[in-house]
Amino acid sequence: MEKRVISTDVMEEDYKIENSLRPRLLCDYIGQTKAKENLKIFIEAAKAREEALDHVLLYGPPGLGKTTLAGIIANEMGVNLKITSGPAIEKPGEIASILNNLQEGDLLFVDEIHRLNRQVEEVLYPAMEDYVIDIVIGKGASARSIRLDLPRFTLVGATTRAGMLTAPLRDRFGVVNKLEFYSVEELTTIVRRSASVFQVEIDEKGALEIARRSRGTPRLANRLLKRVRDFAQVKYDGRITLEVANFALDLLEVDKFGLDNTDREILMTMIEKFAGGPVGLDTLAASIGEDSGTIEDVYEPYLIQNGFIARTPRGRVVTERTYGHLGLEINK
Ligand code: ADE
Repeated sequence: MEKRVISTDVMEEDYKIENSLRPRLLCDYIGQTKAKENLKIFIEAAKAREEALDHVLLYGPPGLGKTTLAGIIANEMGVNLKITSGPAIEKPGEIASILNNLQEGDLLFVDEIHRLNRQVEEVLYPAMEDYVIDIVIGKGASARSIRLDLPRFTLVGATTRAGMLTAPLRDRFGVVNKLEFYSVEELTTIVRRSASVFQVEIDEKGALEIARRSRGTPRLANRLLKRVRDFAQVKYDGRITLEVANFALDLLEVDKFGLDNTDREILMTMIEKFAGGPVGLDTLAASIGEDSGTIEDVYEPYLIQNGFIARTPRGRVVTERTYGHLGLEINK
């Protein structure tokens, strides 16, 4: 099968499910006020100058709307959106071909950009800086390099870990935005908006409860909304209320803080096997059979932000709050 490294459409299943819920305009995008206000100005200025927008780096935990924002930027700029990801591009020739097929002004979205390999990344440097690529033709003594001009384009890179980008790549982004966890109020608005897209009735308290248990993350809020909707439909009268939300979310084992089984396993392991810490990330990952990158990117940011885990120079420790939340006594 031909390998696909790019799609003009959105390619993965998760993206497809989310697509109907994605806002298309900046004014419909809830939360991330700082990023939104910055982007609004940069987009307006670039459009007035009839130039491509400068390259944009979006970073932050998964599910906070990086792909959505890339789509909005393309839409607001009135340009095509091409989507690919760091791990999908294996060879310099592949990125060269993607770049060479762009049209004037196009937006190239590279998800998980920290996972590009070094050779591929090096093709991007002159492309981002001077809109050119150097292609080597032939081998050995007869090899020669030719320079191809590219159209002006905008690279939007997304990463869960800005710290893993190399300095030369990071420095080539003119706009850098950190995405933050959403407040419960913002998530409540998103849940209500999504419910209206699904044409399911929801009351304020039902929306608030789903929002509260969504770990500050719209992707999770939308996922939980869909599951609660199923319970509402099968076990109740189709309407989502506080009672339905509580019933469904308790059964799904998402607790009052939005922690799931893996979160609780991480915290319990730290307490039971490591006396509350400090424990190193790799040691912790090995003892629960989880990938350390997943713990660091997916689970830990929310646990740290909400004061369940603290990072110290000697490793991770649980906090008093964790003992309280898990109903355990501190036993040191
Ligand atoms: N759906 C997912 N993320 C959203 C956001 N930030 N604003 C509005 N709807 C969303």
